[in-house]
Amino acid sequence: MISQSTIEEIKNRMDIVEVVEDFVNLKKSGSSYKALSPFTSEKTPSFFVVPSKGIFKCFSSGKGGDAIKFVMEVDGLSYVEALRYLASKYGIEIAEEEQSDEALEAQNKRESLYIVLNFACDFFQDLLMNHPEGKSIGYSYFRERGISDNEIKEFRLGYSLDVWDHLHREALKKGFREEILEEAGLVIKKEDRTYDRFRGRVIFPIQNVTGKVIAFGARILTSDKKQPKYINSPETELYNKSKVLYGISQAKQSIRQEDNCYLVEGYTDVISMHQVGMKNVVASSGTALTEDQSKLIKRYSENVTVLFDADPAGLKASFRGIDILLECGLNVKAVTLPEGHDPDSYSKELGTTAFRHYITEKAQDFIRFKTSILIGEVNNDPVKKAGVIKDIVSSIARIGDAIKRSLYIKECSDLLEISESVLIVEQNKLLLEKNKQRRRAQFESQEAVEPPLLPIDDEQIETLDIGKIIANQERESVRLLLNYGNQVVQKEKEDQQLIDYFLLEAEEIQFTHPTYNRIMTHFREKAEKKELADITYFMSLDDEDIQKTVIELSAPRYEISEFWKSKYQILVPLEVNHLKDVAYTNILRLKFRVIQHLIEEEGEKLKNASKDEVDEILDEINEMKKTEVQIAEILGNVTVK
Ligand code: UTP
Ligand code: MN
Repeated sequence: MISQSTIEEIKNRMDIVEVVEDFVNLKKSGSSYKALSPFTSEKTPSFFVVPSKGIFKCFSSGKGGDAIKFVMEVDGLSYVEALRYLASKYGIEIAEEEQSDEALEAQNKRESLYIVLNFACDFFQDLLMNHPEGKSIGYSYFRERGISDNEIKEFRLGYSLDVWDHLHREALKKGFREEILEEAGLVIKKEDRTYDRFRGRVIFPIQNVTGKVIAFGARILTSDKKQPKYINSPETELYNKSKVLYGISQAKQSIRQEDNCYLVEGYTDVISMHQVGMKNVVASSGTALTEDQSKLIKRYSENVTVLFDADPAGLKASFRGIDILLECGLNVKAVTLPEGHDPDSYSKELGTTAFRHYITEKAQDFIRFKTSILIGEVNNDPVKKAGVIKDIVSSIARIGDAIKRSLYIKECSDLLEISESVLIVEQNKLLLEKNKQRRRAQFESQEAVEPPLLPIDDEQIETLDIGKIIANQERESVRLLLNYGNQVVQKEKEDQQLIDYFLLEAEEIQFTHPTYNRIMTHFREKAEKKELADITYFMSLDDEDIQKTVIELSAPRYEISEFWKSKYQILVPLEVNHLKDVAYTNILRLKFRVIQHLIEEEGEKLKNASKDEVDEILDEINEMKKTEVQIAEILGNVTVK
């Protein structure tokens, strides 16, 4: 346990701006700071830091709190882990309330995993530097490759003895449980035998953003072709390969300072570039780049320089990964290295100054680079040329910024010797498709819109953002179902409850607001079992947003009426008496707004559409307008408000 006085000291020393800045590119904005949210992939900044209050608030994810909370959220740490991180950042010594075996007894499994991984890392480091086998084989291997002591220390490189169960035995002696060793990916359990995963290899610890060891890569020292060059940790509770970039912890500060991130393939490339002073470098570790990795880079800079090796097949394969960077809104540059070289080998060949010079001189815009590479293969073959055009335009279409896109179109039209309008038509096709997909995704419920607290009057509606109105209607639906879900709305044949009536009528409606959508899913799932999801049920769920919403919406709608009722004996018409009409109107309004939203979006597309597409879009709009009119007519006949 960390003592209360240490916690207090941390809280006194921590500065929200300093803490957040290690993870996010902050821009001053009046008395606060703003940035793109590190929690979502938003395009306009909605993440704020208010230094005077010591808090952050992210409007797109709803997260907020003090510096401790921020560290917990941004790196998936527990409260105690976050405190430890902050203590080390500010050089505060942690006073433990109870020294005894705290690490080994830690309840929290993630924490135990971190602890055992850190133990293993220290263990491998110690073997490399101090054990005869480690020194003569591991350490001399690194030295032969020109890796200096400084980098060995900074990247916590290590060595595992060529013994079946060295780590396993030593860890058990220290009191670590076998299951935790296995879950951390350090040992492998087979029938009656447990053995170390890494044996006789040099060790590259993989660290998360805050510098905690979450996995290992281990390189063989011989050129034995039967064994893989690298053995890596399996995915664990802490290690998700697609979310990690090797070297990010050592690079983040420098990526922000240089406002650029070098992207390479391998562990040794990162270390070598670090050694020649290009510290803003991370590796994808030989796998295809993911969206999460691109977002991770974007936390620190919008500029990436990718280092490619010159082998043409490999080059073309890596182009696909680069599209993900473009899609995330990053500006991408490319450098190729001479055939047969990677950044590690080439930096060693050229030496520090010449290598740095080479990289900065040769870096060129990625789209231009891709175009020039692909155009070289066309050889006057029109079919090939058409393929190249499609390929390049598909990269351009991923760029979010319209101005940038049009500049690229212009440039590529020159390079490819083809008219701009052909390229634009091709581009618009792709944009159209992308819009469709985005719309679908949106309706599958991400974009959070904060609705106003009370239902709004129809007069106000025109001036409000339609996304908000939809969320407001959704809120109204949830409110009705929460309060009157079990009321019988139809008595003729079989009793029908409001919930069943509503779910049937609104079957094809997908709610846009994430919390309301989750609530609806609960209603549906329960209803399938012929049960009602009521307020007690929602309160029992481990979902803070749902709980908040339910409390808010289950309060009586017209509180003021109690006062009027008692004072003037006025009877407020109760909505419970004509529930079915209320629900019906609500569903119709919801459908009406969704249609309007779609029409609006479709109209937007007209601006960028080519001649051929215009007709298609207009047809779609006309169809939707018909439905809109139908709904409007019915709504006009329904009198209940
Ligand atoms: P490389 O084969 O280019 O290795 O793989 P490297 O980093 O240049 O290593 P050296 O210079 O030969 O020592 C690039 C990256 O792909 C992953 C590793 O992350 C490696 O750094 N990789 C490669 C594996 O995970 N397993 C393998 O068997 C090979
Ligand atoms: Mn290499």
